[in-house]
Amino acid sequence: MAGQLDGTVALVTGASSGIGEATALALAAEGATVSLVARRTDRLDGLRSRIEGDGGRAAVITADVTDEPQARDAVERTVEQFGRLDTMVNNAGVMLLGPALEAPLEEWDRMVRVNLLGLLYATHAAMPHLLRAAEDSPRGVADLVNISSVAGRTVRLGSGVYNATKHGVGAFSEALRLEVTRRHVRVSLVEPGATSTELAGHNRPEVLEGLRQRFSSMERLQAEDISDAVRYIVTRPRHVAINEILIRPTEQDN
Ligand SMILES: NC(=O)c1ccc[n+]([C@@H]2O[C@H](COP(=O)([O-])OP(=O)(O)OC[C@H]3O[C@@H](n4cnc5c(N)ncnc54)[C@H](OP(=O)(O)O)[C@@H]3O)[C@@H](O)[C@H]2O)c1
Repeated sequence: MAGQLDGTVALVTGASSGIGEATALALAAEGATVSLVARRTDRLDGLRSRIEGDGGRAAVITADVTDEPQARDAVERTVEQFGRLDTMVNNAGVMLLGPALEAPLEEWDRMVRVNLLGLLYATHAAMPHLLRAAEDSPRGVADLVNISSVAGRTVRLGSGVYNATKHGVGAFSEALRLEVTRRHVRVSLVEPGATSTELAGHNRPEVLEGLRQRFSSMERLQAEDISDAVRYIVTRPRHVAINEILIRPTEQDN
């Protein structure tokens, strides 16, 4: 059966787990060739095998998006190998929570570098190719999807720097949208609530315990609930731009 993304090429950062992995599978199932970008090559290799086993096409690119040359190289290698780039999903992210007072500065550095700088580097490299795809593809449109968070809309105690990075993603996305929307590159923001992935597992034990208590009784989202939204965004007709989607678990109040 024909997929809605047949003939297109997508790149997903942070494809080695969680939302990125589910997104890569969803785009591949619609017929996109998918470039899988993250640091854990073994996980990406497993995902590529799965996509190829399902009859799809994928490439593994090991890259740390916080390193500008690596982020740019991931985009350029995708275009060299597959000839184009129609869909870019900036998904790589880290969430390291806890009170700001006496927080380890290394955690703040990591969040700013991955969630903001990594996204900016990858976007800078991808934009010329997305603009070209919007001009010369039969679909006449290309997509940049940035994965933000509920934390990009509301602020929580103990989440200040994560909030700052995700609010930054929202601000940049809207400014870029204004710049390129008339050239048919759609810039979309996806804002998940609590989703069952590896994300929280990188926190210090005392922070993790607090998160467990908060979310233990809640039915959280699955990564596929978010990848479904990304698939929806990038398969709309040319004249429809889904600018922003906020998705919470039904039981999550804020
Ligand atoms: N889970 C949630 O509740 C939730 C809620 C709102 C928003 N989000 C957002 O959703 C996105 C995906 O997170 P997730 O929940 O799916 O968590 P996850 O399973 O931990 O996935 C994070 C991904 O980011 C990649 N990554 C981290 N640092 C990287 C770097 N320097 N360079 C390249 N890739 C890097 C990781 O791959 P490697 O370690 O292999 O590099 C991994 O594939 C993040 O932006 C997160 O902020 C998640």
